[in-house]
Amino acid sequence: MELITKTLFLCLALALTNGAPTHPQDETVEDGAPLPDRCEGIEFDAITPDEEGKMFFFKGAHLWKGFHGPAQLSNESFKELDDIHHIGHVDAAFRMHNTENTDVHEHIYFFLDDKVFRYYNHTLEAGYPKEIQEDFPGVPTHLDAAVECPKGECITDSVLFFKGHDVHLYDIATKTVKTKTWSHLPVCTSVLRWLEHHYCFHGHNFTRFNPLTGEVNGTYPKDARNYFMKCPNFGHGHHYKVLNCSDVKLDAITSDDAGKKYLFAGRIYMRLDTHRDGLHAFPITNVWKNMTRGVDAVFSYTDKIYVIKDDQVYIYKAATRSTLTEGYPKTLKEELGIEGHVDAAFLCPNEHTVYIIQGQRIRDVDLTATPRVVTRDLPLPLSDIDAAMCNSGGVNLFKGSQYYHYESAATLILSRIAPMPQKITSAMLGCQD
Ligand SMILES: *[C@@H]1O[C@H](CO)[C@@H](O)[C@H](O)[C@H]1NC(C)=O
Ligand SMILES: *[C@@H]1O[C@H](CO)[C@@H](O)[C@H](O)[C@H]1NC(C)=O
Ligand SMILES: *[C@@H]1O[C@H](CO)[C@@H](O)[C@H](O)[C@H]1NC(C)=O
Ligand SMILES: *[C@@H]1O[C@H](CO)[C@@H](O)[C@H](O)[C@H]1NC(C)=O
Ligand SMILES: *[C@@H]1O[C@H](CO)[C@@H](O)[C@H](O)[C@H]1NC(C)=O
Ligand SMILES: *[C@@H]1O[C@H](CO)[C@@H](O)[C@H](O)[C@H]1NC(C)=O
Repeated sequence: MELITKTLFLCLALALTNGAPTHPQDETVEDGAPLPDRCEGIEFDAITPDEEGKMFFFKGAHLWKGFHGPAQLSNESFKELDDIHHIGHVDAAFRMHNTENTDVHEHIYFFLDDKVFRYYNHTLEAGYPKEIQEDFPGVPTHLDAAVECPKGECITDSVLFFKGHDVHLYDIATKTVKTKTWSHLPVCTSVLRWLEHHYCFHGHNFTRFNPLTGEVNGTYPKDARNYFMKCPNFGHGHHYKVLNCSDVKLDAITSDDAGKKYLFAGRIYMRLDTHRDGLHAFPITNVWKNMTRGVDAVFSYTDKIYVIKDDQVYIYKAATRSTLTEGYPKTLKEELGIEGHVDAAFLCPNEHTVYIIQGQRIRDVDLTATPRVVTRDLPLPLSDIDAAMCNSGGVNLFKGSQYYHYESAATLILSRIAPMPQKITSAMLGCQD
């Protein structure tokens, strides 16, 4: 992975240039003692997101909010952890995922010795702290780490509790515990689930593991400073500042078969279905290796993602570790029977016709036909469309910071007058209103 330069994503500056600490002596000093600097290599006590997806890293009496910025006292954010229990650090923490029980959904649990504290909206809830046994019968005290594990990743909605090499798999619905020993995994001092993956933190390193089997694939450990925080001389430019909605300019947008939504702009893509973990921009080349100059249009068909750049079509398997299909790229003419610059393209769920927007024309191509040819070519009462997407809610055509909404592809095709443009909102694209 390469260092991404500042010319990317809609002028999003790297967080590095924006208030990340450089040296501990630059930071606020409390009682004459410098605050800890996570760039020096910290072994965290606990890491958890809050209900808004903001990440909290804990060490001793301090915490860090988000992926960059200086340390602060944890008692300023979670007052009672210190007041009630003069412990000076937390053992473990996790955010409860979607469960049927809305009383606990997105609440944060902290574990200190034999006690559990439950927070929502950064406020300790009535009745807490409790004995761990009261909320999580069968789970040991003095934990090392805890993490959510939703159904699909674990067999049932579960929480994994770590102590030494033992992992206590707690089934939320049945309140039963199964214990496994994963001796091959380092002893995790904190565990984080982020963007559907599980990470065990140990020392200043982390190791990604499969939450069901404990299996580790790939080259680990890796240095956490390269991925989970912004440090001088570390990292690959993973974290970008959130963009104002009024400055949005997309290149493409699509949703794959699994319902995962991707937005493309410049050299950057963002997953839109992961608001809960915060929105994060990544280099397009992390997933779609050949797209080094960005994309013009992207659409999804069956289990594949079609990426168009200039007169070339690249077809990738939709899975995250995307591989280019053999024999690609092919020309637009060869693959889709069209020529010229493509502004946007979309396909509606369970359909076989891709709609290609080129200037003021919208062209249909039947993907089941061989060879592929334009089956319908109609004028569009709009021009300079950047990106388009169709899902069960209808079709949206994006143009700068605005979009045009149609109930369906059929209404779009039939309409001779453009609907009123609407402003892109934070809820749609995760930009700042
Ligand atoms: C937080 O802890 C520090 C150091 O232990 C203490 O000086 C400060 O008064 C505490 N602040 C609050 C809000 O409890
Ligand atoms: C969260 O807490 C703040 C004050 O700390 C309060 O103003 C706000 O209404 C609370 N929000 C919810 C959803 O409870
Ligand atoms: C971190 O991982 C590197 C290998 O990537 C290893 O050489 C180093 O000893 C590890 N350090 C700690 C503190 O675990
Ligand atoms: C690990 O890699 C093996 C072989 O490549 C693969 O079969 C397995 O599904 C992978 N497991 C995970 C958790 O990615
Ligand atoms: C976003 O808008 C706000 C207020 O309109 C402005 O202060 C801020 O500088 C803008 N941010 C960017 C990245 O343009
Ligand atoms: C696409 O990228 C892969 C991985 O970097 C590379 O092996 C392959 O040669 C590239 N293909 C083309 C056609 O550029």
